[in-house]
Amino acid sequence: MTSKEAIQQAATAVDRAQRIAVLTGAGVSKESGVPTFRDAQTGLWARFDPQQLATPQAFQRNPKLVWEWYEFRRSTVREAKPNPGHVALAMLQKHYPRTTLITQNVDDLHEQAGSRDVIHLHGSIAQTKCFGNCQGPSTLVDLATIDNDLDDLPPRCPSCGAYLRPDVVWFGEVLPSDQLQRAIDASTTCDLMLVVGTSGLVHPAASLPIYAYQSGAALIEINPDRTPLSDMATLRLEGPSGEVLPHLIEALDDVS
Ligand code: OAD
Repeated sequence: MTSKEAIQQAATAVDRAQRIAVLTGAGVSKESGVPTFRDAQTGLWARFDPQQLATPQAFQRNPKLVWEWYEFRRSTVREAKPNPGHVALAMLQKHYPRTTLITQNVDDLHEQAGSRDVIHLHGSIAQTKCFGNCQGPSTLVDLATIDNDLDDLPPRCPSCGAYLRPDVVWFGEVLPSDQLQRAIDASTTCDLMLVVGTSGLVHPAASLPIYAYQSGAALIEINPDRTPLSDMATLRLEGPSGEVLPHLIEALDDVS
């Protein structure tokens, strides 16, 4: 099937769907210049494996190193702008309001592009919280309100003195239960799920397309590469989401 035919078939599926769920991963931000999680690390972080840094144990072992890695990633995200893939998903939600957007990404590029009610399974890198969640989960702290002594990193919680950390989910940590429940509800009640830019390797996020499939939904995977979810996909649109998604949105004009 040519990619044009596949795009038209996907547009028909979107237009006919009653409830759409979209699950995005790091691939959707790749064309905004944000490296995917499994991209080789670059520069001074090249020698580190992200999976060895994004854990509570790594932070307790070397809080300054983990804090600086996240400051590096925050700076990358701050410079990033939404790409046409993010904009296309925001337009999809606008034209098809019964579309729920679920992301594993910790950037806010979906919101910047105009998406609303985004479900963030893995938190938000722009937010900072007390490592001990001393005021309850999550004890968010605005870095602008504390004196950030660059010689004493990570900064300390103004309430209890514990280290501050990024408000993201680390390996081995539980996902925010309200976000996960909303994502499961959307996945088990949709009749179409778009799975965009995720390797489908990290659970429970990677289970959401399986729940959708088991609930009778059609899956459309948008990814240059195959993943463990590919065999369940009714359709695969092979290519970068920043190119594929705008074509999908354009094709909706011909079907609606
Ligand atoms: P990965 O880095 O695991 O996978 C990125 C996926 O995007 C791969 O399947 C690529 O083929 C695909 N990809 C690359 N460029 C793309 C493009 N331009 N358009 C579309 N797809 C593209 O990132 P995630 O699947 O998001 O968890 O990783 C899931 C989780 O693993 C992350 O949220 C993070 C990590 O551990 C936590 O931080 C808890």
